[in-house]
Amino acid sequence: MRRVEVAASILTADFGNLYRVVRKLERAGIDRFHLDVMDGHFVPNITFGPDVVAAVRRLTPLPIDVHLMISEPARYTEQFLRAGSDTITFHVEVEETDEQKRDMLARIRGARRVAGLAVSPRTPVSAVEPFLDGLGIVMIMTVEPGFGGQKFLADQTPKVAEARRLLADRPQAAIHVDGGVNGETAAIVGRYGADVCVVGSALFQRGRDTAREIDLVRRLAGPQRAAVAL
Ligand code: DX5
Ligand code: ZN
Repeated sequence: MRRVEVAASILTADFGNLYRVVRKLERAGIDRFHLDVMDGHFVPNITFGPDVVAAVRRLTPLPIDVHLMISEPARYTEQFLRAGSDTITFHVEVEETDEQKRDMLARIRGARRVAGLAVSPRTPVSAVEPFLDGLGIVMIMTVEPGFGGQKFLADQTPKVAEARRLLADRPQAAIHVDGGVNGETAAIVGRYGADVCVVGSALFQRGRDTAREIDLVRRLAGPQRAAVAL
């Protein structure tokens, strides 16, 4: 059984000190970076684009997961591939045709990266079913996408087990849980067996030990996983 990985979302980090932020998170033991791209249209917030992804790429050898919360992901796929993303996940709710979505997933795979779909709280997991072929990531949102530091939506966690059922014959596919995950909520995620926990604001809070928080999430989201064996 795979060890739970912790991905650091830098959405609430000090962008004026990106080098130090990346180094501190690497020393603290994170497994991967999670970069939240927002266009102010798909979600009511604007963050950064491919240039910041490329900047983080130059700073770290760790895997980079790009989480696209933008309305036209197909238009920017090449730029995020060129920026050095290891995985690219866009939202299944975007207003593009199924064919365009399949084409985008195929382009990401064609570039030998991992393609993923994210599911917002109002969307059932079954929405990803038409795209299972070649899907490497299903990302379950446990907050409404758009901001860091929001309250964890525990009622979304059963979707992890549903996604696991959908991916039953695709053991290489990974389930990511994104939003409000920290030392207090990780055990809830652990009941359902996620592969990657995205942690954001909990890593940048004054007085909280970053390495201890990462270790706590990894341990609490891990051991109960067997309990939900299919
Ligand atoms: C929210 C983002 C998340 C967020 C996680 O839309 O997709 O990745 O940054 O941060 P926390 O852990 O603070 O919810
Ligand atoms: Zn995210």
